[in-house]
Amino acid sequence: MKEGTRKEDRRSAVVTGCTSGLGRSLFRKFSGEGWHVTGCGRRVDLLDSLRTECGPDAVTVPCDIRLENHVSALRRAVETTAGHIDVLVLNAGALGQLPLPGFLATSVMELRKLYETNVFANFTVVKALSGLLRDGAVIAHITSDASRIPYEGWAGYGSSKAAFNLAVDVLNLELRGRNIRALNVDPGDMDTEMHRLAVPDADASKLKKPDDAASEIYRLIVSLKGE
Ligand SMILES: NC(=O)c1ccc[n+]([C@@H]2O[C@H](COP(=O)([O-])OP(=O)(O)OC[C@H]3O[C@@H](n4cnc5c(N)ncnc54)[C@H](OP(=O)(O)O)[C@@H]3O)[C@@H](O)[C@H]2O)c1
Repeated sequence: MKEGTRKEDRRSAVVTGCTSGLGRSLFRKFSGEGWHVTGCGRRVDLLDSLRTECGPDAVTVPCDIRLENHVSALRRAVETTAGHIDVLVLNAGALGQLPLPGFLATSVMELRKLYETNVFANFTVVKALSGLLRDGAVIAHITSDASRIPYEGWAGYGSSKAAFNLAVDVLNLELRGRNIRALNVDPGDMDTEMHRLAVPDADASKLKKPDDAASEIYRLIVSLKGE
């Protein structure tokens, strides 16, 4: 915490899945803009290097968002450091079965695992952290165009994103009374680990850089907050 800055005056963001790709870029962006940032992920070495890079106001928590006790630890970390949340980015996401299967080749067991991350874990995170959201807070769910457009091979991933999109739209209505916005944000096709796994032969030069997507999302969020 910067000297002379009261904890309650400090803007606080939480980013799930901050070890790589868009989440890592978002974490860096919020941190670089002077926010207190808390992030989580499962790969501890990548959490440690991010915290070292971003300095003392950067908090990283080893956390698999599918596990309620891990998410409780994330909540405790936010409570004891920032004390509140102004922005919650639900960025952590899974791709599921690889190579991406056609509908009829989809393993239902793998599909359940995918929904565990992209749907159920996001419910767990929002429910656990909701009490820390301040007046004017924004919840941004990172979704995908595959949740709206039927691409062959993307039935599992696309439907999981679509399911949580609708839940977010409902949440947005339900949180109006607390002056909290919840929205779905499609970052576009980005050059990340996930994209390399999904489309190994894609031309990376045509993909958006995660740092650029993070800057766009940051601008959108602060404009929604009227800053
Ligand atoms: N890349 C694209 O073109 C694209 C397009 C549209 C939407 N998206 C969405 O953008 C978001 C970020 O993806 P990305 O492209 O940046 O891929 P990525 O580099 O693979 O990042 C995924 C992040 O999610 C985390 N994560 C996954 N499962 C988790 C779990 N159970 N608990 C905690 N963290 C978990 C990963 O961390 P750990 O492995 O360390 O846990 C990682 O930090 C995802 O929601 C994705 O669906 C991506």
